[in-house]
Amino acid sequence: MFITFEGPDGAGKTSVLNQLIPELKAHLKRPVTLTREPGGAVISEAIREIILNPDYTAMDARTEALLYAASRRQHLVEVILPALTRDEVVICDRFVDSSVAYQGGGRQIGEAAVLAMNQFATDGIEPTLTIYLDVPVAVGLARIEAHRKATQYDRLDQESIAFHERVSAAYQRLVADNPERITAIDATQSLDAVVADCLQLFKTKLADIWED
Ligand SMILES: Nc1ncnc2c1ncn2[C@@H]1O[C@H](COP(=O)(O)OP(=O)(O)OP(=O)(O)O)[C@@H](O)[C@H]1O
Ligand SMILES: [Mg+2]
Repeated sequence: MFITFEGPDGAGKTSVLNQLIPELKAHLKRPVTLTREPGGAVISEAIREIILNPDYTAMDARTEALLYAASRRQHLVEVILPALTRDEVVICDRFVDSSVAYQGGGRQIGEAAVLAMNQFATDGIEPTLTIYLDVPVAVGLARIEAHRKATQYDRLDQESIAFHERVSAAYQRLVADNPERITAIDATQSLDAVVADCLQLFKTKLADIWED
């Protein structure tokens, strides 16, 4: 059981997961592992540092996409697959859909090309279920702006609104194209309401391993 959380910057993925995980641990009959790329895999961390380094303004969009896929591959092999082998419920904050949306859509190098490259990286392993936290770009960005200090910027934050709108449009296409896998949740609601919607979805989708 491999579950991913997706959505634009500031949608609330990390906040929702922080509240959700204790509930899931209380109700699921299997161990729950929460991870996010690079997930503590040392090689993935090292690759991630290259991607986020604000000095690397010359980074080519395909180079960036390849580095994300490489980092993801190592995290998959070292963290996700072993946990799935132990029959745990693995929940990951962002996965391949993020690359399709940000690199494919945002950086305009092609959603299909980024997906194909990531299928090589993951050997075709897909999440069983993906929760898409749906918020307009402006709402997500306003949330981030409201909470951060001026020093907390990395290279990827210096993006234009147009970039974020392309990311959002690509996410909408993913949701439309993958109705079996991806469920969208209205993330403009209060955090408690979003968490409640997620819990209800888990209860329905994971009914066979859920206990009240
Ligand atoms: N439903 C909500 N209503 C209002 N504020 C929220 C809500 N969810 C999260 N926030 C706030 O918005 C900010 C961004 O949330 P969070 O970091 O969880 O988003 P994220 O989706 O993980 O973003 P990123 O993609 O940048 O990691 C945080 O300051 C958080 O407190
Ligand atoms: Mg986050």
